[in-house]
Amino acid sequence: MDRLVIEGGVRLKGEVLVSGSKNSVLPILAATLMTDEPCVIRGVPNLRDVITMLKILRSLGKMADYVKGVVKVTQAGDPVLTADYKLVSTMRASFCVLGPLLGRFKKARVSLPGGCIIGVRPVDLHLKGLRALGAHIDIESGYVVAKASRLKGSYMYLGGVYGSSVLATDNVMMAAVFAKGKTVIESAACEPEIADLAEFLIKMGAKIKGHGTPIIEIEGVKKLHGCEHKIIPDRIEAGTLMAAALITKGDLNIKNALYPHLGAVIDKLEESGASIIKSSDSIRVRLRNKLKPINVTTLPYPGFPTDMQAQVMSLMTITSGISVITEKIYPDRFMHVAELNRMGALIQREGPHAIVEGVKGLSGAQVMASDLRASACLVLAGLAAKGITSISRIYHLERGYENLEDKLRGAGARIWREKE
Ligand code: EPZ
Repeated sequence: MDRLVIEGGVRLKGEVLVSGSKNSVLPILAATLMTDEPCVIRGVPNLRDVITMLKILRSLGKMADYVKGVVKVTQAGDPVLTADYKLVSTMRASFCVLGPLLGRFKKARVSLPGGCIIGVRPVDLHLKGLRALGAHIDIESGYVVAKASRLKGSYMYLGGVYGSSVLATDNVMMAAVFAKGKTVIESAACEPEIADLAEFLIKMGAKIKGHGTPIIEIEGVKKLHGCEHKIIPDRIEAGTLMAAALITKGDLNIKNALYPHLGAVIDKLEESGASIIKSSDSIRVRLRNKLKPINVTTLPYPGFPTDMQAQVMSLMTITSGISVITEKIYPDRFMHVAELNRMGALIQREGPHAIVEGVKGLSGAQVMASDLRASACLVLAGLAAKGITSISRIYHLERGYENLEDKLRGAGARIWREKE
């Protein structure tokens, strides 16, 4: 296994390019199961999770070629309707093959994804929505077994105790495309990635309205055809690069970044003292003056994204004053706190809150990545720390960031790989 080594203290300068969105391309790849015609998807980032999803598609009877950012999915053989534990358990997003398979074939057998380090990750809302469409769902030996003589459009409320669910909205929206009549999903997730999936489905012939708002309406159709689509930029990678500019007191022009997808992040970083210049397809970020402490609470979109919580925590560790970070989506998403404290941060966890007392500076250390966004936060901390930081288990980082070290090195960072 590799580890990333960073010699901190360099102010990042210049231009960085944001890749396509991981959380958009994964459900869109799953949606190719809804037709036997070819689909071409462009702007696909080279990520471990994308490779996993392509493996899953191949296990379900698809041919999936991936060359220079373009994925071409065609029908290889007879459709397979079981998504196997060994693949699904490695990546929760693979659970969103359930809706497409059930919708098109009226049956599916998909392994429950299991939890992960950031939380239990239940699927009750997925199952609630599919049952509302008329599916019979049993849990057998760790698999969701779903069947339906036919699917009927219906009204449903999909809000959960933590608010709306991104992948549950995806799963139910995809199944509803083939349900007879009209489906209304209330308390649908509003993330830009949901809207991108809906646009892909509409290109395939689906009838969807309201995507990107809390009420999505789907009019059932009989069949979908193939299409071509370009994935939206990754707003979380863009936010991570914005934090990299600030934590190093640098000046970065972040290309292929859509500021309308980053309202809450831009608002909070400006409150903390960032100078942010927005243009149609790029965002320039530098420090206006000293960073000021901020309080951040994660919420469903358009609220502050939980996937940026660890990164903004890194930034606050060297911001003098007290910042309070409250995690309302995954209350246990604080594995990065201990690692940051090993680098000299002063963070105290109180339930869903992390109280961050800014310190003068962090010191490089050997740290361990635990999940995707925690890895990103340790990279940010390493860029700012005095001395050398070595981050092990960086396969977590490779799940969701395409060539992050090359991008940072291109902006002046002293960052390289070593064998574990
Ligand atoms: C998506 O996960 C993202 N993943 C996550 O990004 C992101 O953190 C999350 O949405 C929240 O924004 C992808 O899009 C592939 P949820 P998802 O269902 O859909 C609870 C990253 O770092 N819940 O929106 O699985 C759940 O426990 C990853 O890129 C239920 O209670 O998340 C959580 O507390 C990590 N019942 C909240 O809802 C359910 O049936 C939001 O989860 C489903 C979810």
